[in-house]
Amino acid sequence: MLLAHLLHLRGIDSVVLESRSREEIEATLRAGVLEQGTVDLLNESGVGERMRREGMPHEGVILRFDGQSHRIHLSELTGGRAITVYAQHEVIRDLVKARLDRGGRILFGVKDVSLLDLDTRQPKLRFHDKDGALQELACDYIAGCDGFHGVSRPSIPSRLRREFTRVYPFGWFGILVEAPPATDELIYAYHDRGFALVSTRSPQIQRLYLQCNPNNTAGDWPDDRIWEELHARLAGDDGFRLTEGRIFQKGVIAMRSFVVEPMQYGRLFLAGDAAHIVPPTGAKGLNLAVADVRVLALALSEFYASGRTQLMDRYSETALQRVWRAEHFSWWMTSMLHHFHDESPFHHRLQLSQLRYVTESRAAAAMLAENYVGLPFRDD
Ligand code: DHB
Repeated sequence: MLLAHLLHLRGIDSVVLESRSREEIEATLRAGVLEQGTVDLLNESGVGERMRREGMPHEGVILRFDGQSHRIHLSELTGGRAITVYAQHEVIRDLVKARLDRGGRILFGVKDVSLLDLDTRQPKLRFHDKDGALQELACDYIAGCDGFHGVSRPSIPSRLRREFTRVYPFGWFGILVEAPPATDELIYAYHDRGFALVSTRSPQIQRLYLQCNPNNTAGDWPDDRIWEELHARLAGDDGFRLTEGRIFQKGVIAMRSFVVEPMQYGRLFLAGDAAHIVPPTGAKGLNLAVADVRVLALALSEFYASGRTQLMDRYSETALQRVWRAEHFSWWMTSMLHHFHDESPFHHRLQLSQLRYVTESRAAAAMLAENYVGLPFRDD
């Protein structure tokens, strides 16, 4: 949706195929942290108005361990950059509206999409539209932004793809709670009983997560058990107390690292989760997708303006540099903050040492901060 908008701003026409309905995509709950570069891009491209009003900028983030909170001063360590909490489905709502207001074409409810002739000058998309009619769309280029389970990635011949995967032995149990936030800033908590994360959605709604068994379902977590675990994992002697409230949404999130190389084949370019997955600990998923389509929009603009394909030819290489940085950061945050079942006392001490180091050393804190707020985009 963002790619379609960025292309439109440069006078390039596109059609978005979406398998779900507008209502469904606008209601699907996802993460909520926007990097500085994502915020800037949404603002510069004229879709940041509601985000500026309703989003919550944070200049710091808290790491909590040994019963104490330690603040990383993001802005001070990164020359004034920050993160903004504004849920992904709100970004989607703003982008859908922006496209439809400008006459953009989004085909909702399409089914059975297949990608054809990708290695020719005229690739095609074949699909059933929402009324069940078979359609074929001839394209100049196809952007595969259809997620981890989409058809785009498997449309690249397997002999030309290399895939890198790590599956973590835990998941996150996420809840939405009707209660005012207990804290001004996000809290990432490390505890023997497992990781916990305190985030927010609005002055009335908190978003909380706790490390769980990846096979858990909502039924495994009655409200009492959720509160007991959250209180235990966030406990301390500094007076911090979580605010309880009505839990009105529960769900389990799987944890996986994944990258495919290359991210392009013929006239198909993969972007976002179709090409890479990060565990949610670094809050990078949406931001990486935004960074991908930013590179792709610049490359396609260069081609339509001048006929040059240099940027497009380098799309995969350029995008993968940022992808692997975010993969490392997300894996590192995940490894530092979670309880591993086969963890030895040695490993536990290493985690605590790392946490102390990133909260006590300015250099180490700056490393966390610059990755967390997002490294500046490189336009080479
Ligand atoms: C949220 C999600 C994350 O993955 C994260 O690291 C921080 C916050 C959220 O949904 O608010």
